[in-house]
Amino acid sequence: MLEDRLDTVRAWVREARHIAVLTGAGVSAESGVPTFRDAQTGYWAQFRAEDMATEAGFRSHPERVWNWYQHRRQLMDGVQPNAGHRALAQFQAAHPGRLTLITQNVDGLHQRVGSTGVLCLHGDLFADRWLDAPRDCCQLGEAVAGSPPTCRHCGNQVRPGVVWFGEMLPLAVFEAAERATQDCELMLVVGTAGAVYPAAGLAHLARSAGARVVVLNPNPSELDGTADAVLRGTSASLLPGLLAG
Ligand code: APR
Repeated sequence: MLEDRLDTVRAWVREARHIAVLTGAGVSAESGVPTFRDAQTGYWAQFRAEDMATEAGFRSHPERVWNWYQHRRQLMDGVQPNAGHRALAQFQAAHPGRLTLITQNVDGLHQRVGSTGVLCLHGDLFADRWLDAPRDCCQLGEAVAGSPPTCRHCGNQVRPGVVWFGEMLPLAVFEAAERATQDCELMLVVGTAGAVYPAAGLAHLARSAGARVVVLNPNPSELDGTADAVLRGTSASLLPGLLAG
């Protein structure tokens, strides 16, 4: 059964002039990066998202939240991209302009393995920015070290450059993702629970714009019902075979 569906989706990949790929934390799971919603190992099984991934959570416990992001940054030192990341980058290199990669991930693994034009909907784990609108005195290079670092003049705090719950996605990036979605003939939805909007809404947009939608996930996701085909498996095991050739 899976083999039959794989052959069908391989044919869809070959036919599609433009493919959009929406990735989530599951793509990095086989590299050893925890996901968010895995019942045992996911970050949201250990922490409340309201505490660790909202502006209010940062303002009430800046040290705790800053240190958690520092921990996640340090974790990435020992992490390598996996066969799923590589297959996407190799397809882009072999077929310039045919595949747009849209990711909810902030870990930089797609870029590390050579993917280009990656549309990072949820920001960058390694970027810093000011919590409050920066004044002239706020210079990231001159922030006083601390957890979090601060402006030596006004005390403004440095925060990670990720998109927290309740925040706007970077507008230009999201618009580019919407355009790629509307233009695509095939969307692969890989390693995401499909629980967070507006990112998950791109799969619905692709479907309503007439594209085929394929979910790749070892577990049920909230986007399975939107898909033309669901491939039950991991990204590192499925993507190389789907995108080869
Ligand atoms: N290959 C593919 N998918 C996998 C794998 C794997 N090896 N391992 C786990 N998965 C799937 C899980 O079954 C789950 O459906 O990846 C998905 C991960 O889901 P989440 O942890 O919810 O991650 P994601 O969908 O990326 O979360 C979206 O939520 O907390 C926020 O900002 C955060 O960007 C994140 C957003």
